[in-house]
Amino acid sequence: MSGESVMNAASGKRVGWIGLGKMGTPMAANLLAAGHPVMVYNRSAARTEALAGKGAAVAPSVPALARDCAVVISMVSDDLALQSVTLDAGGLFEAASPGMVFIDMSTVSPILSERVAAAAQAKGVHYLRAPVSGSTTTAAAGTLTILASGPKDTYDRCLPLLQAMGKKLYYLGPAEQARYLKVVINMMAGVTAAMLGEALALGERGGLEWAQMIEVINNSVVGSPLLAYKADMLTKRNFAPMFTAAQMAKDFDLALEAGRNTNVPMPLAAVSRQFLGAMIASGRGELDFFAYVAMLEELAGLGPAGSQE
Ligand SMILES: NC(=O)c1ccc[n+]([C@@H]2O[C@H](COP(=O)([O-])OP(=O)(O)OC[C@H]3O[C@@H](n4cnc5c(N)ncnc54)[C@H](OP(=O)(O)O)[C@@H]3O)[C@@H](O)[C@H]2O)c1
Repeated sequence: MSGESVMNAASGKRVGWIGLGKMGTPMAANLLAAGHPVMVYNRSAARTEALAGKGAAVAPSVPALARDCAVVISMVSDDLALQSVTLDAGGLFEAASPGMVFIDMSTVSPILSERVAAAAQAKGVHYLRAPVSGSTTTAAAGTLTILASGPKDTYDRCLPLLQAMGKKLYYLGPAEQARYLKVVINMMAGVTAAMLGEALALGERGGLEWAQMIEVINNSVVGSPLLAYKADMLTKRNFAPMFTAAQMAKDFDLALEAGRNTNVPMPLAAVSRQFLGAMIASGRGELDFFAYVAMLEELAGLGPAGSQE
């Protein structure tokens, strides 16, 4: 069956989708728009309405979805959510049949993913890890970066589905490689925000003009796609969330847990995680994680009130 698209090989069956949150809804909509028949399930049933309106079938439970689909994709919050929709009673593996493909695109720990892999193997299910890098905007545009690992032939057969959701696709290895790379990238993004917070507070104290300082940093050797992407948010100090501090704290926990389990020292991540906790405790948990910059200003006795803006 290698080489043949997973959907061609399963004519008459649908692609199952679990998890219609901020990311899952536009991603599943892109599968529909690409012509794939889709069946959706969401814990809160009301969230299935938007996709039903676009032609998706709705399943009343995860096992019902599993019975009707050749491929099932999940996009849920975290480890607890993935465990609930897969390993727990009433989860996917209760009804999965041999040969089914299961793709999880959530950001979860390598450890839970290994447990899902073991359950998949016991059931004869082909399991692909495919976490994404991007945002709700890139999810809607179908331009996510998809980091995939798992059986290579399964990845090849699922390409038409992945290409409906992502623009850059990377196959990284046969096991948990994609999980590690996803937490590594997010950890680096979080540490970048922490570093920038200290840098901008110091620059502001030194008399630099806020917008000019951000522009010059962006055009310097330390400029990066991430900083370019956040420049407008920083300049306007508008921290409406693209990715919240609370979500980033969760991803730091995944990275630090992976570091602990593998004896990789991660002192920078550990310190940054403490400050993400302070963001949550001081009411900034639902702001973008780059609001870290505003917290550092405040700690330095600066900030919009005392600034030259
Ligand atoms: N947002 C981003 O910019 C972004 C970017 C890259 C990656 N990610 C990752 O993508 C994943 C989804 O993010 P999101 O922004 O779409 O989150 P979200 O809007 O909070 O949606 C979470 C989804 O998970 C479901 N869920 C949560 N707990 C559950 C449980 N115990 N059992 C069953 N379903 C459960 C929710 O169902 P209900 O509707 O019933 O609550 C909802 O469908 C996360 O792992 C996130 O880290 C997000």
